[in-house]
Amino acid sequence: MTILGIETSCDETAAAVVRDGTAVLGNAVASQVTLHAGYGGVVPELAAREHLRSIRPVVEAALSESGVVLSDLDAVAVTNAPGLVPALLVGCAYAKGLGWALQRPVLGVNHFLAHLYGSFYGHMEILADTGSFPILALVVSGGHTALVLVESDGRARLVGTTLDDAAGEAYDKAAKVLDLGYPGGPLIDRLAAQGDPRAYAFPRGLMGTTGKAVSAENRFCFSFSGVKTALLYAARDRQLTPGDLADLAASFQQAVVDVLVSKTLRAAEAFGAPTICACGGVACNRQLRRDLTAAAAAASRRLVLAEPRYCTDNAAMVAGLAYHTLRRGAVEPGGFQVAARLGEDLGRVPFAPGLV
Ligand code: KG4
Ligand code: ZN
Repeated sequence: MTILGIETSCDETAAAVVRDGTAVLGNAVASQVTLHAGYGGVVPELAAREHLRSIRPVVEAALSESGVVLSDLDAVAVTNAPGLVPALLVGCAYAKGLGWALQRPVLGVNHFLAHLYGSFYGHMEILADTGSFPILALVVSGGHTALVLVESDGRARLVGTTLDDAAGEAYDKAAKVLDLGYPGGPLIDRLAAQGDPRAYAFPRGLMGTTGKAVSAENRFCFSFSGVKTALLYAARDRQLTPGDLADLAASFQQAVVDVLVSKTLRAAEAFGAPTICACGGVACNRQLRRDLTAAAAAASRRLVLAEPRYCTDNAAMVAGLAYHTLRRGAVEPGGFQVAARLGEDLGRVPFAPGLV
């Protein structure tokens, strides 16, 4: 089955052609980073307008790379939630129009679960094995920071989320404080490599390290507002040398990564998950990849790190996940709506080996 995936939930216009949920034949992404850089964040209406401009060339690029023509497609899949509503609407309207013209089914795909699925490109055999479950996924991007538990029968639920900023958003705001540019994640990642992560003792949110006990419901939740404010106080009203900047970046990064790694490992232990995966834009972070690798090895858990091109927003993850829904014949006949947010119960993932 050959599926065209479309992704426009945030500031990347992406299209991909994927065969049978595993073979990525074409994968095109147009980033809007420069458009939003001046604002220090994504402006929804500008994003929507840019998606409208880019969507057709991006779909054409994915088709041409794959050597597939429109009439070869079995279905069209598109991210319909969560995301920026004006941006989602562009991809969904395009996908519905294309599906109607081709007389093919159009599937709405959950962006969150698509990120999770995308981690396994190159390791799909893990998803076919019930022994890999439950899987504990760390989804970290500009829009989300969440821990998701997926059982072998497909049940997926959010076991932890952020109470304030997403990790990527915290990186982006930290870069703004340090006047580094946008998006902040890759810039801090690079700068931190030259700094001392112990130079500043920044707070680790919701870890109980400040003497304040963490409530049971927040055990696997995140908060990055404290570290962001601490960085602001440490950086303001002084002349920062390049060395100071690198130390601030390294210390900020270590504080964020320590929390992500430690909560992920604790949750994997609490829920008895033999497999951990990490995905979303922040999963490109080199320190996070290094520290998660070491922590998972020490805890004897299998770690699957999404390849960097499948960490940031892409449509291969969308087309891949949709394949499993289509294979089960679970396409909603009434179509689908867009939604900005998701509830705690993520339903059932269609790729689970024990799903009947
Ligand atoms: O998944 P993504 O492309 O879009 C969303 O769904 O948000 O993630 C973008 C986020 C941005 O906040 C960006 O700063 C962050 O991922 N990011 C990184 C790195 N690369 C991208 N954060 C830390 N280190 C990186 N290397
Ligand atoms: Zn994303």
